[in-house]
Formats: sequence, structure tokens, C-alpha cells
Amino acid sequence: MPFSKRILVTGGAGFIGSHLVRLFVNKYPNYQIINFDKLTYAGNLENLKDVDSAPNYVFVKGDIVSINDVQEVFENFAISDVIHLAAESHVDRSIEGPMDFVMTNVVGTVNLLQAAKESWKEGEHVFHHVSTDEVYGSLGDEGFFTEETPFDPRSPYSASKASSDHFVSAFFHTYGLPIKMSNCSNNYGSHHFPEKLIPLMILNIQNNKPLPVYGKGENIRDWLWVEDHVKAIDTIFHNGTVGESYNVGGLNEWTNIDLVRFLCRMMDEKLNREKGESEKLITYVSDRKGHDMRYAIDASKLENELGWKPSITFEEGLEKTVDWYLNNQEWIEKVTSGDYQSYYKEMYANR
Ligand code: NAD
Ligand code: DAU
Repeated sequence: MPFSKRILVTGGAGFIGSHLVRLFVNKYPNYQIINFDKLTYAGNLENLKDVDSAPNYVFVKGDIVSINDVQEVFENFAISDVIHLAAESHVDRSIEGPMDFVMTNVVGTVNLLQAAKESWKEGEHVFHHVSTDEVYGSLGDEGFFTEETPFDPRSPYSASKASSDHFVSAFFHTYGLPIKMSNCSNNYGSHHFPEKLIPLMILNIQNNKPLPVYGKGENIRDWLWVEDHVKAIDTIFHNGTVGESYNVGGLNEWTNIDLVRFLCRMMDEKLNREKGESEKLITYVSDRKGHDMRYAIDASKLENELGWKPSITFEEGLEKTVDWYLNNQEWIEKVTSGDYQSYYKEMYANR
């Protein structure tokens, strides 16, 4: 039987992308899932070992910055829909070198929009753009980001994502391309590259290494389990209104220092350490440049209109996450060998 949709998932070998691909391959055997990924340092096909022989899954190595690569995959697979996750995603790297972020996040997104516009002359299609709450800027003590909050990006990463969001809206308004967008808060879960706060702290606690907390550790993030994020994308992709954007978040705000302390307590128990032992590793280091103070999402549009809500508590999700890292040493060794060591030294040695 022919597939009813042939969905191009960009960045499917990354953290969120691999969870999305796994969900779609298993849940929708009548869709063909084409994972299109350049396999940068953040992309890893090991993340998809459990689905890579499924009959409805294909991997294509390609770069969204190359219009040839993009046109070729649209033609070869008669792509009917796009879920676009490929990006340079780490704020600290964007501060050190913004240009890769401009190329992948802005130029790459416009290449995909152009290819979709050229290929989709008739029939039903969706271009779902996955974005971030960082486009809205930084909050004070009060309030939440809603879909109406004006964009105010403040890091090179968030500026590149805001720019990509504007291009996606522009293709809807100008050409009528059937787009949907989601802007999500901080994700955590398995297969998260250990440059980001939670996996980096888990690995350092396990290895008795210093825990580098930026500034005073008072910045606040709203954490959401990655599997709840990909369920939200599934809901919006299928039931959201064309042309609209939806905020996704966990109503789960933590200061960085409270979160690191919580992880230390959880891991002291799991590693049979004395109470308070891991907390001694906490080391305050110089702050991130332009560090956004607080992110907090109002996800009531998604909850009220489409019936999505987070499925597990932070405590449950964090415990599953810590257990996954403790039980997947081989994965950790692979992703932390080579380039990761030089990245870590450059970022933290003299901080
Ligand atoms: P990630 O860095 O883990 O993965 C990015 C993936 O994109 C990798 O597989 C990488 O190989 C691929 N990629 C990078 N450049 C590419 C290119 N030029 N062509 C093709 N593939 C390329 O990122 P993530 O954390 O999984 O984030 C996925 C998306 O979700 C991003 O668009 C990000 O902005 C957004 N987002 C992330 C979070 C979060 O907390 N991680 C929250 C909200 C939104
Ligand atoms: O809000 C969504 C965004 O969340 C996504 O769009 C980004 O792709 C994703 O990387 C994430 O961005 P953050 O900058 O919030 O995540 P990160 O894990 O890098 O940092 C979380 C907080 O922890 C932030 O306040 C900086 C701080 N931090 C981070 C690291 C890596 C530290 O204190 N020490 C660290 O070593």
C-alpha cells in the first residue's frame, strides 16, 4: 500500500528530532518518515537504533543549507509534509560563532520553505516549524510568554530562530504556504547532548567533576520532558490551525542552582554517596554574555484548543533521565570522545 504521507523530518538524528522520529515511525506505519540530517556534532544515528530497520523509515544525509540537497530529497521522495527541527541549537556556541547559526537556522529554513512552495502546487500539505520560547526575550519576576508576546531575541541563537520564524510567517502570508509553528521551553530527557545544562551536570556529578553554574545560578528556565514536546508537535501537526503558532511549556520553573542541587540529591542516593557529597562539586563560574533571566510559557492555547498537557511530573521525568544516562555509558563515551573534550576545555577551562 502506498504511504498516505511522506514526511521530511529535518534534524531527526538530534535530541528532539530522534524522539519525534521514533514516535511517528511507531505510531503511523502508513506514513513514510524521511529523516534528513547533516549529522553535525549534535546528530547521532545511534539515537535511532531501535527504529532504523522499520519499513516506513529512511535516513538521508543532507544539509539544509544546500539548495541542491533539499531539492533532491523533495523530488526523490515526493515529500508531502515537513517537520523542521534541524538547527544549530546551543546558545553558548552561538555567542562564540554566530555565522553557522545564520546559515543553518535562517538560510536553511528559507531553502526548505522555497522547496515546499515549488513542490506543493496542489493537495493537502503541512510545513511545521519547530521553534523556541527564546524568540520572546527575557522575563522579569512576573508574567508568561503568550503567542502574542512581541519577539525580542537577545542571543545570536535566538535572533536566528526569530528570523526563521518570521520567514515561515512570511511564506504563509505572501504565498499561502500551509505552515504551523510551535515555540517550546527547555526540553530534557534521554539522548540530550551533554553541552546543555541537565546532561552536562549528570555526567559531571557521576564523574566527580566541578559543576559549572553560570553567574549566581538565579536564572530561571521552564523545563518540559522531551516526549511531551514531541506529543505536542504530533497534536499541532495533525490538529492545529494552518497559519498559527502554539506555545508549548511545562509550567515548571526552576532556578538553575535549585535544579543542580536537586540533581545532586537524586544522584547521591543513586550512587550510594553520603548526603550532600555531590553538592560540594558546585562551582560558580563567570556568567554567559547577555544571559536571559527568566523564561516561562503560557501553554493555555494548546491545552484549551487542542487538549494537550504534560504527562509526567518533573521529578518522574528527571529520574527517568538520570537512569537513562547511568545505563547508557556506551552512548556517553561515543558522544564525549574527540571534539567534545576540546569544546569542554575551550568553554570551561578558564571560566
Ligand atoms: P540538536 O542540536 O540536538 O539537534 C539538531 C539536529 O539538526 C542534529 O541532528 C544536527 O545534525 C542537525 N543539523 C544541524 N545543522 C544541519 C543542517 N545544516 N542540515 C541538516 N541537519 C542539520 O537540537 P535539539 O535540541 O534537538 O533542537 C531541535 C529543534 O528544536 C531546534 O530547531 C531547536 O531550535 C528547537 N528547540 C529546542 C529546544 C531544546 O530545549 N532543546 C527547545 C525548543 C525548541
Ligand atoms: O528555551 C528553549 C531553549 O532551551 C532552546 O531553544 C535551546 O536550543 C536550548 O539549548 C535551551 O537553551 P538554554 O540556553 O536555556 O539551555 P542550556 O541548557 O544551555 O542552559 C540552561 C540554563 O543553565 C541557562 O540559564 C544557562 C545555565 N547553564 C548552562 C550550562 C551549559 C549553566 O549555569 N551552566 C552550564 O554549564
